[in-house]
Amino acid sequence: MAVGIFDSGLGGLTVLDAVSNRMPSQSFIYYGDNANTPYGVRDTDDIYKLTTTGLEKLWDEGCDLVILACNTASAAALRSIQEKFLPNGKRCLGVFVPLIEALTERNWGDNSPPREVSVKNVALFATPAPVSSRAFQRELAFRAIGVDVEAQACGGVVDAIEDGDLILAEALVRSHVDALKRKMPFPEAAILGCTHYPLLEKSFKESLGPDVKVFSQASLVAASLQDYLERHPNMKGAATASKFITTGDPKKVSDRATQFLQRKIDFERF
Ligand code: DGL
Repeated sequence: MAVGIFDSGLGGLTVLDAVSNRMPSQSFIYYGDNANTPYGVRDTDDIYKLTTTGLEKLWDEGCDLVILACNTASAAALRSIQEKFLPNGKRCLGVFVPLIEALTERNWGDNSPPREVSVKNVALFATPAPVSSRAFQRELAFRAIGVDVEAQACGGVVDAIEDGDLILAEALVRSHVDALKRKMPFPEAAILGCTHYPLLEKSFKESLGPDVKVFSQASLVAASLQDYLERHPNMKGAATASKFITTGDPKKVSDRATQFLQRKIDFERF
């Protein structure tokens, strides 16, 4: 067995990279739904169906614990999955919680009233679905007061990354950051709320400027997963080999993944 990492495409590799660096002896099975990416422009039902198909595949591969390394699926489908889809003994965690914990400086289980936190102006970059769901702002409001979140739906960025067109992706990032700054000229912090975006972290940082703290979702998720596995060692699984599965064209997806992670990655067909 191994821990499953799910994404609509290549973006979850940024999480996979962080978790494997942090836990080199843990095996991971990665599922990229590249045939159906992007999820960010789909409706909730569609995202739920595609996500649960991926989860079932990862269960068949022997994973008991799956990380939804996809903000879009985490925002649109995770709650319903946890409420009505998970069989006994299976767990599914999203990528929102560690980020909100870091931003609000408190643990998820802390049910005390919302309080002031150090950052007041936060720029959120994500795909259209989580932006319109306002899931991030809702979770934040339970825990923090006085935080102004300006969200920018970054249309086109995921498609450009999946197509390997990084010049276009970088140009889109610059224009989305400009659009955000027209609404919030001086954000103190930025959240790259799509796991594809760390592949363009340099462009985001350059466009945002040196004064904006960019939260690294991948490393927060990695720290949180390590803590979870220490508390739930039965979820670690026993497999020794990691594996990469895609619903897309394995050759094309492997080439892109190898380019992004700078190490040889071989995907097999779903
Ligand atoms: N990487 C994903 C996310 O974190 C999904 C992007 C998409 O498929 O639109 O939101």
